[in-house]
Amino acid sequence: MAKMGTSSREAAAIVVMLGFVLSLAVVCNGGKTSSFVRKEKSGVMPLDSDVFKVPPGYNAPQQVHITQGDQLGKAVIVSWVTVEEPGSNTVLYWSAYSKKQKSEGKVTTYKFYNYTSGYIHHTTIRNLKFNTKYYYVVGIGHTERQFWFITPPEVGPDVPYTFGLIGDLGQSFDSNKTLTHYELNPQKGQAVLFVGDLCYADTHPNHDNVWWDTWGRFTERSVAYQPWIWTVGNHEIDFAPELGETKPFKPYTHRYHVPYKASGSTAPFWYSIKRASAYIIVLSSYSAYGKYTPQYFWLEQELRKVNRSETPWLIVLMHAPWYNSYNFHYLEGETMRVMYEPWFVKYKVDVVFAGHVHAYERSERMSNVAYNIVNGICIPVKDQSAPVYITIGDGGNTEVLATK
Ligand SMILES: *[C@@H]1O[C@H](CO)[C@@H](O)[C@H](O)[C@H]1NC(C)=O
Ligand SMILES: *[C@@H]1O[C@H](CO)[C@@H](O)[C@H](O)[C@H]1NC(C)=O
Ligand SMILES: *[C@@H]1O[C@H](CO)[C@@H](O)[C@H](O)[C@H]1NC(C)=O
Ligand SMILES: [Fe+2]
Repeated sequence: MAKMGTSSREAAAIVVMLGFVLSLAVVCNGGKTSSFVRKEKSGVMPLDSDVFKVPPGYNAPQQVHITQGDQLGKAVIVSWVTVEEPGSNTVLYWSAYSKKQKSEGKVTTYKFYNYTSGYIHHTTIRNLKFNTKYYYVVGIGHTERQFWFITPPEVGPDVPYTFGLIGDLGQSFDSNKTLTHYELNPQKGQAVLFVGDLCYADTHPNHDNVWWDTWGRFTERSVAYQPWIWTVGNHEIDFAPELGETKPFKPYTHRYHVPYKASGSTAPFWYSIKRASAYIIVLSSYSAYGKYTPQYFWLEQELRKVNRSETPWLIVLMHAPWYNSYNFHYLEGETMRVMYEPWFVKYKVDVVFAGHVHAYERSERMSNVAYNIVNGICIPVKDQSAPVYITIGDGGNTEVLATK
């Protein structure tokens, strides 16, 4: 990925790349990227779909997924679920240049209303070499399954890297198309920036958490081989007092671990990583972000840490977009924008990716930070220090498309 300068031609270039990845029909001065327009409401894939198949063998690991495990990209968190019994927490891993090593993790379970999860394993493997292909095995002692991933190059200013972008994926036939388009894309994304709303289990009666399991099996074909960088969306909250479930993010936090402590965060909903030439800040639209809150204090410190000589790209991920001209979810990102936008301009964030609105939208570099109640200056203006805002919330979920 080339450094995005202030020229709009360059800004368009990356959008073209991302547009390919997303297979969206976008026309800009880079040309037409794809003619694909998805159909409305393709329907949830049935439980007996091929993509939901349970892998064969006694206590076989399923729902295998990886994400970055530290700030620099030298660690990977490997997660998987076993059903019959806990089994081993060990990950066996090696590269062509190293002998087989083992790492131990932990297992957890949770209940949600009348659902009981399988045994959810999380094991971090550390001290990996940059830019190296590693093989790994889980399910030791029962049914072993082998996967692989490639670590990112060492963090630095001139390091090319290709991210895929997916948001609001869900598990409809269209979700499967989105994932297939991503896999077949000639740009070959090396990691996915996922901007929230994973499985939409909460749209089923009692938030039936079986749909968390099916989603884990559906996405395994990508996320077992390359890290997906997680952001929380509203469909991860699972706040259901009517079911006696009052702790927000319960299924999500048990199933998807992120390296939040490595960036000094105190909660898994906001954190940062460096990867290649990018510094990526993940924020939570659904955790407190007002003044004096933990997320506020963390972000204030965090932005100061970014060294643009080391990571020229500064990318922010969040679920609810700050700028949205669709009627769907209109102004839902506004209160967070009011809190943090002056910082984004001060620290010259390159690009903000959001989901939530089931559509594509890209802004110019603009800001709206001058308003002080009495001056009347409340209209966004072009601002070369401000980020480009890109909404990509149309990954395939069964809710309606935003078209107005
Ligand atoms: C949970 O309860 C619902 C009804 O409230 C029922 O249909 C479902 O079968 C139950 N599931 C389990 C795993 O007991
Ligand atoms: C999902 O997509 C894959 C790859 O294109 C295909 O093999 C599979 O049959 C699809 N499954 C469903 C349920 O659409
Ligand atoms: C910023 O990064 C550059 C390049 O890696 C390095 O030389 C410099 O020392 C860093 N500056 C600070 C303040 O850490
Ligand atoms: Fe959403």
